[in-house]
Amino acid sequence: VDHIRIGLLGCGTVGEAFAELLVERRAAIEDAAGISLDLVRIAVRDPDKPRSPRLDPELFTGDALEVVKAQDVDIVVELIGGTTPAGELITTALNAGKPVVTANKQLIGSAGPELFAVADRAGVDLFFEAAAVAAVPILRPIRESLLGEDVTRVAGIVNGTTNYMLTRMMSDGLSFDEALANAQELGLAEPDATADVQGDDAASKLAILASLAFNQSVVADDVTREGIVGLDTEDFRLAAQFGFDIKLLAVAERFTDDAGGGEIGVQVFPALIERDHPLASVRDSFNAVFITTSAAGELMFYGRGAGPRPSASSILGDVLAAADHLRRGTHRRVPVGPRAVLRSTQELT
Ligand code: HSE
Repeated sequence: VDHIRIGLLGCGTVGEAFAELLVERRAAIEDAAGISLDLVRIAVRDPDKPRSPRLDPELFTGDALEVVKAQDVDIVVELIGGTTPAGELITTALNAGKPVVTANKQLIGSAGPELFAVADRAGVDLFFEAAAVAAVPILRPIRESLLGEDVTRVAGIVNGTTNYMLTRMMSDGLSFDEALANAQELGLAEPDATADVQGDDAASKLAILASLAFNQSVVADDVTREGIVGLDTEDFRLAAQFGFDIKLLAVAERFTDDAGGGEIGVQVFPALIERDHPLASVRDSFNAVFITTSAAGELMFYGRGAGPRPSASSILGDVLAAADHLRRGTHRRVPVGPRAVLRSTQELT
C-alpha cells in the first residue's frame, strides 16, 4: 500500500463533505486501489470553531500557506473558493511540485489558462473535475477519451440552483423568491446567489468546458449571459400552454472556417425547450451536458451538478487519480490552448 498525504484547504460544506467521504471510503480505497489516502492537515479560517465529530480536531490549523509548503503534504486539495488567496496558494503548491485538486470554478473559470501553464511548466497534475457539473465526470472524458477528437459543441444545463428553481416555478407555481429560498436551504446556491441567478456561475463552468473541449483559452468574461432574473409566473404559464419548459442553457460552439481556423461562441441564456427534448426531463438540481464531436456524434452526461456530497465524490476521484500518478511518477497535462477568437452574440444562432 502506498501512503499519500493530503493537505486540505478550506472546510466549508464541500470541504467537510470531502473530508468525511475520505474517512468513510478509506479502507475501501485501500482495497481497490492499493493507496492509503491520509488526511494530514486542514487549513481553516477559524481552527477553534466546532467541526464534524468524525474529523480529528488535531488536523485543523489556521495557516494555509504552511499546509501548502509542509514536507508531509503530498497533494493539496483547495476548497476555499474565490480567486484570492486560492490562486496564490495553488500556484505555490504547483511550483513546489505538488499536485493540486480544486473545485474552484470561479478561479479556474477566470484564471484557468494561467494556472494550466503553471502546472504544465511544473510538470504536475492540476485537477478540477468538481468545478464543472459537480458529481458528473465530464472533464476527464474531455481531457482523456476525447483528447484526439474534434469537439464542435458543448451544451446543456450546468447550474443546479437555477434548474431547481425553474423546476419548482414551472411545476409547483412557486415564486422566484420562494424557489430561491428553497434552493438556499438545500445548500445548492452560491454564498452570493446572484452568481447563480444571473448566469455567472454557469458562465464560469462553460468557460472551463469550452477551454478543454476546444483547446483554446476561454474565460468567464468571454461568455455573454442572461440569467433567470425577471422570469415570472406568466412566462411559465405561456411556455406550458405551448408545450415548452424553460431551462437555463449554457452553449459553447466552434465554427470552423475554410482555413481550418475558427471562432468560438459562448453564451448562457434561458431557453424554451420542447417537453419531449431530453433536457426537459432534467429536473431539480440535476445537470446534463451534451458534447458533440465529429466521430462520436452526440454524448450526454447527466447527474447531480450541485451539493456538498456530489462535489466530494468528484474531488475524491481527482485525488485518487493524482495519487496514482504520484506513485507512478507521471502526470496528465492540462492543454494550454491559444486565446479563443470569439464570435459576437449577434452572429450566434
Ligand atoms: N451553485 C452551484 C449550482 C453549485 O447551483 O450549480 C455547484 O457548482
